[in-house]
Amino acid sequence: MTNLRTSALFAGIGGVELGLASSGHKAEFFCEFEPGAQAVLRERFPGVPLHGDVRTLQALPKGTELVTAGFPCQDLSQAGETRGISGERSGLVGEVFRLLRQSDVPHLLLENVPFMLQLDQGKAMRIIATALESMGYRWAYRVLDSRAFGLPQRRQRVFLFASKVCDPSQLLFQEDEGAPEDGDHKSEGGKACGFYWTEGVRGLGWAIDAVPTLKGGSTIGIPSPPAIWFPDGRIAKPDLRDAERLQGFRAGWTRPAESVARATHRWKLVGNAVSVPAARWVGKCITRKPRSLRGLPLPFDQYRSWPSSAFGSAEEGRFEVLASKWPKRVQGPSLEEFLNYPPEPLSLRAVTGFIERLSRGNLRYPEEFLRALKNHQESFAKEVVPA
Ligand SMILES: C[S@@+](CC[C@H](N)C(=O)[O-])C[C@H]1O[C@@H](n2cnc3c(N)ncnc32)[C@H](O)[C@@H]1O
Repeated sequence: MTNLRTSALFAGIGGVELGLASSGHKAEFFCEFEPGAQAVLRERFPGVPLHGDVRTLQALPKGTELVTAGFPCQDLSQAGETRGISGERSGLVGEVFRLLRQSDVPHLLLENVPFMLQLDQGKAMRIIATALESMGYRWAYRVLDSRAFGLPQRRQRVFLFASKVCDPSQLLFQEDEGAPEDGDHKSEGGKACGFYWTEGVRGLGWAIDAVPTLKGGSTIGIPSPPAIWFPDGRIAKPDLRDAERLQGFRAGWTRPAESVARATHRWKLVGNAVSVPAARWVGKCITRKPRSLRGLPLPFDQYRSWPSSAFGSAEEGRFEVLASKWPKRVQGPSLEEFLNYPPEPLSLRAVTGFIERLSRGNLRYPEEFLRALKNHQESFAKEVVPA
């Protein structure tokens, strides 16, 4: 399947479509209702028609061969309320099904947070799989980690490919390098560590030689970047342009959003996006010659969390696949080497609040980390001492 004519729903800033374009799949239509994201799409994909609200979209453009849809995950993601798939916003996946039912689109690519697999004891996934099967799609999905593609960002997302003409299970699982053994636990020595300074009570988002998942929102209600503890003791936040690069975009990709929104809004757009190299990998997979699965597919209990990789169809049923989140192991630069722009030191207020939350919670972290935070806090006092 080459050069699929693509209609992108919930297109955001076009992470999926940018990745797919490397394999010749061309975005010919966008649906996205947020003005900042729209401004980015208009500038970065000039001439591609753009519709606003999916709920007012009458039909998909004729000739669409692939629909992409990273439907909003607020209701699904752990950070959001757990209202489930029938919540008002995630109910928007229903709009995708409405549009697909009216047309005869051969292929579909859905993207979402892995929490979707756990939600309501598999209910979200049962609804999605049942809807797809009733329309004659075979489907397969796999959780992918952005680090597998050389990005120093720990980010896991579910990619589900469905097709009426081919067997997606013969496409998505051909490659598997497996997660590195030292994965999340390799020693911190000499490596920058990412964390969420807005957290500190329930979790830290601790990531070694990587930033934690860039997010569209935060516990303090506004989009905010993570922070990094550098090996030389600095505590600082990455520049927005590096955040764009940590998602696989070029620096400045979201700048057009500033024509309609505040600069800080770009953090939200970046945090909501799909890592471009992960989408690029999926784009390549779907252009491959199908190859049948090695190993036996495993039946699984659909009334519990779903596995991190699976496939199914109305005829054959639903099966787990033992595939890792690391189809590749692209060796990228370390987090510190990756950053191109000077990071901004974490403010006194931010570090003070974070230390205070850490002291209330009972999280585990390296002792030197707390020392580094306190040194950072004290450095502000030193700054104001007159010479
Ligand atoms: C998770 S993001 C998708 C990100 C995208 N894949 C990317 O790489 O940037 C979901 C997007 O759906 C958009 N959205 C939410 N409700 C919508 C609606 N009713 N109609 C169109 N777009 C909507 C949001 O503005 C957001 O950009």
